Amino acid sequence: MWWANVETKPYGGYPQFWDAKILDLLEKANPGNQQWSGKPSADKKNPYGQFDGKTIFEAQNMLTPDSARVLGYLPTDEEWNSPNIFEDNPVGKKGVRNELDKEGTALPEHKTWFFYLARICNHCSYPACLAACPRKAIYKRPEDGIVLIDQSQCRGYRKCVEACPYKKTMYRGNTRVSEKCVACYPRIEGKDPESGGQPMETRCMTACIGQIRMQGLVKMNNDGTWAEDRFNPLYYMVHVAKVALPLYPQFGTAPNGYYIPPRWVPRDYLKQMFGPGVDDAIERYTYPDRELLAVLQLFRRSNRIIFRYEIKEGPKIYEATLRGRKISMYNDTVIAYGQDGKEIFRTQVEEPVHVRPNKHANSI
Ligand code: SF4
Ligand code: F3S
Repeated sequence: MWWANVETKPYGGYPQFWDAKILDLLEKANPGNQQWSGKPSADKKNPYGQFDGKTIFEAQNMLTPDSARVLGYLPTDEEWNSPNIFEDNPVGKKGVRNELDKEGTALPEHKTWFFYLARICNHCSYPACLAACPRKAIYKRPEDGIVLIDQSQCRGYRKCVEACPYKKTMYRGNTRVSEKCVACYPRIEGKDPESGGQPMETRCMTACIGQIRMQGLVKMNNDGTWAEDRFNPLYYMVHVAKVALPLYPQFGTAPNGYYIPPRWVPRDYLKQMFGPGVDDAIERYTYPDRELLAVLQLFRRSNRIIFRYEIKEGPKIYEATLRGRKISMYNDTVIAYGQDGKEIFRTQVEEPVHVRPNKHANSI
């Protein structure tokens, strides 16, 4: 059940301090040089600019000149003890314990802030867990990129736990083998009885009542880049609108979990976490264009994986000035199609309003 966790940033973490610790190790291995250059661009190989520092693979022999294939560390039992540590704890007044900032606050940066980071295994394109396992017990499925541990091969060496920078393989003491998120692969394969044989999203995605998670499958080129698939919603959000950014891309595993960054958090913190695409991503969704607004409606309208969307233009329904900028909203219809090319659902930008009858005691 710890495969999918939600931590409160900046203080929360499971295991505790996982990201601060690996960032610190990288900094020690390559002091002052963990930097980005360039800018987000249309370049598919370096869509967020160029990382000039060392990845966990390149820094491997800089601190650990032993047999380790990847720079990493094994968390202590204490660090695994408290999954919800610092839950809902905001950053307070700088340098003063237990005191929140009393001044009013405004974008682009709040002085008192926190945000939730939902985490699962990123099913990385270059999985450090796989690289590190001396038993070759970890494999990445070519058909869908899911990274799995073959538990009949695993002997509990825990090199994967040491190597995964996101700490998403976990050793289980009573079985003496490691385990990790399996990306609900029977659902992805369309084997869930509810799926009608069509690929279905993972449980953690479908359970999101905040309607902010989406999962899918994308087409790949032979060189590991995403093949152009303009109307796949994930391709659109990651490579066209560029509002969804990878988590700690500087680690070098090419993680396949992408996040739309929050907009009230200090930008330096966000850039460390999601790379240099943060400013552009926030700017784009703060003033979303017609297509982005329509695509964002696709989230959580169905449990089936969306392979393609189509937008049918509707009338203008709203016009306003937002922070000095003119914005318009159109009631476009967005249609989602599944792997078989059949329509899964259609929805509109303007959400329907349901008024409950004044019949029950708890009716509003
Ligand atoms: Fe492996 Fe960690 Fe990447 Fe998952 S997040 S594929 S466990 S390196
Ligand atoms: Fe390999 Fe990790 Fe098991 S390193 S042997 S998969 S504990």
